[in-house]
Amino acid sequence: MEDPGACSLAPLSVTAPLHQFARWLEDATRSGEIEPTAMSLATCDGSGQPSVRMVLLKQADEGGFVFYTNLGSPKATDLSTRPRAALCFHWKQLSRQVRVSGRAEPVADAEADAYFATRPRLSQLGAWASRQSRPMAGYYDLEKACALEALRHPMGAVPRPPFWSGFRVVPDRIEFWLQKPFRRHERVLHELRDGAWSEHWLFP
Ligand SMILES: Cc1cc2nc3c(=O)[nH]c(=O)nc-3n(C[C@H](O)[C@H](O)[C@H](O)COP(=O)(O)O)c2cc1C
Repeated sequence: MEDPGACSLAPLSVTAPLHQFARWLEDATRSGEIEPTAMSLATCDGSGQPSVRMVLLKQADEGGFVFYTNLGSPKATDLSTRPRAALCFHWKQLSRQVRVSGRAEPVADAEADAYFATRPRLSQLGAWASRQSRPMAGYYDLEKACALEALRHPMGAVPRPPFWSGFRVVPDRIEFWLQKPFRRHERVLHELRDGAWSEHWLFP
């Protein structure tokens, strides 16, 4: 593990939070994290019941944090009903956490098409085959559905299913947490207000 006393959040005061996030993601990738882009995604349904699950970050820039999923899934239904989400990254090798929250909006069809086209063919067929989070009689149901999709798309490009796309979480809060010895962790919260980011130190 990296020496937790060696790195300080102090330079954040001169760095936009999305640039800081990009730097930390690069550090996590270099540190040997198995899934550095894995993030927990929290949503709420119409009655206020929260749910959390892991998804993979596919893009992060000034526009927000993008992931892809099945549009019939509970998470997509939640986001259509209540278009706000929270994300959490934990990079164990670095003892760092990043929390994000903001508005969730669907990505444009052209953007989803472009990303889908980069996926391995078997993943593309899997997207067609899966009725994500709906019950099936057994694992064989999934294998059968994948085999049927392979027959339906024997060659050539596989189009993006109309029920598969992405969401972009447009952040208004980004918090960086850095583990330090004896629980003297560093936390800096960035908040977007009236179009400008401001930062605040928080007790750990
Ligand atoms: C490391 C990891 C990454 C995952 N990435 C995704 C993803 O990018 N998109 C997705 O739909 N599900 C992903 N999943 C599966 C989800 O955690 C979840 O089981 C599934 O999307 C159904 O969620 P829902 O029923 O809450 O909609 C991932 C799971 C793990 C463990």
